[in-house]
Amino acid sequence: MLFLLLKLPLQQYLIYCRHCHVADASPSLCNDDNGGNKLSIVEAAISAAKTAQASWQLLTAYQRYDLMMAWHDLIMSNKQDLALLMTLEQGKPLAESMGEIAYGASYIKWFAEEAKRIYGDTIPSLNANQSIKVIKQPVGVVAAITPWNFPNAMLARKIAPTIAAGNTIVAKPSEDTPLSALALGELAKRAGIPAGVINIIVGTDSKSIGELFSRHKDINKLTFTGSTRVGKLLMEQSASTLKRLSMELGGNAPFIVFEDADIAAAVDGAIQAKFRNSGQTCVCANRFLIHDSIYDSFVSRFVEKVKQLKVGNGLEEGVHLGPLIHPQAKTKVLELVTKSIKQGAKVLYDGHSSKHHTILHPIVLTDVTNDMDIAQLEIFGPVAAIQKFETEQQAIALANDTQYGLAAYFYSQNLSRVERVSTSLAFGMVGINEGIISNAAAPFGGIKESGFGREGSYLGLDDYLNIKYLCTRF
Ligand code: SIN
Repeated sequence: MLFLLLKLPLQQYLIYCRHCHVADASPSLCNDDNGGNKLSIVEAAISAAKTAQASWQLLTAYQRYDLMMAWHDLIMSNKQDLALLMTLEQGKPLAESMGEIAYGASYIKWFAEEAKRIYGDTIPSLNANQSIKVIKQPVGVVAAITPWNFPNAMLARKIAPTIAAGNTIVAKPSEDTPLSALALGELAKRAGIPAGVINIIVGTDSKSIGELFSRHKDINKLTFTGSTRVGKLLMEQSASTLKRLSMELGGNAPFIVFEDADIAAAVDGAIQAKFRNSGQTCVCANRFLIHDSIYDSFVSRFVEKVKQLKVGNGLEEGVHLGPLIHPQAKTKVLELVTKSIKQGAKVLYDGHSSKHHTILHPIVLTDVTNDMDIAQLEIFGPVAAIQKFETEQQAIALANDTQYGLAAYFYSQNLSRVERVSTSLAFGMVGINEGIISNAAAPFGGIKESGFGREGSYLGLDDYLNIKYLCTRF
């Protein structure tokens, strides 16, 4: 039905090879029913990307801008259909899906513009009669692996800088949300982006595809958003070709509320930072650290708001939280909760339990300590785990006591404290009196075991460019 809405020529994509299918691939490439030939279709996509890159890089930035903006405009004019498709395959409420389509498109617009600003440099030489010039060139063919939690935006923010910089891409979206990705690919095609520039492969054998990407000599860069465990594996595999890498991995965001915070604003920010996408984002607040003196006031107001959250079918009006991605996700979150209770956490609020295999109502836990699994592992679900602290130093130490370093949040009205805490938090992104930090104009990315590389902002193109130094004698 959705493909009818989008008028997608679905047939074209469903060239099936048990494990993989790829846009525009020849059926003859995947004729082995035993799956023995399943990767040849990925090879075909890489080869198409390599061929297309030679001409794509020759386009001017202005020509690439025009094509990318045509793509952006088509996405925006189809945003209702794209959002519906997303809610059906991923589960998030329709309003959130609409927001994500616009968010994803904002990366395409941002990088279309940035393509015109890939500046080089001239540097005074130490030697007479010599000039030093620095130019930036595309890395070549980029492989991207993207997750299911943002089926549109995570892909858009990898494809956009890739093609803006003159590269081509072979992207593998999560097997849980292939349709949103294929719809993006179809719209790129309708926008006139030439064949081979954007190649989208859908397959369930993520392990083999990831390994092929990381070891392939014609892939010049691999960009991955997903778990730290898989990121490490891809890094190991990529060592054989010394591939350029960007890794956007797991997070364990602290959300600190100091005694000088605007409590009402902190509660609103906490709801946004915790429950966006039912808690299934890498930047979701994972641990709430609340100052002793405002603890009762914050927690009671927070729980009041949590009680108002409506959980259910994302297509229904007024639903704030959709289902989790699959039953295993629900089991995993509930196991974390059970373990934390055994370790001493208390259940302050448990939205009525649902027997539905993917619906999980919010849970609020108190008396959490930083050594519990729930405070050290990514929850990826609608569970708020709350701790108390007494001093600023203690809050910073607790916040930084994690292997991860993606996002952190804190609320304070004290300017000096804002300066001190912002610089002391060991995270790539910090929300200060702000619960939603995502923005195409900002550099998204982490430190420590949350990875490296930045997506978005004027810095985001550098990950997709090589620097070349030209030394001229005259
Ligand atoms: C993520 O969960 O990795 C991305 C979230 C965002 O872009 O806001």
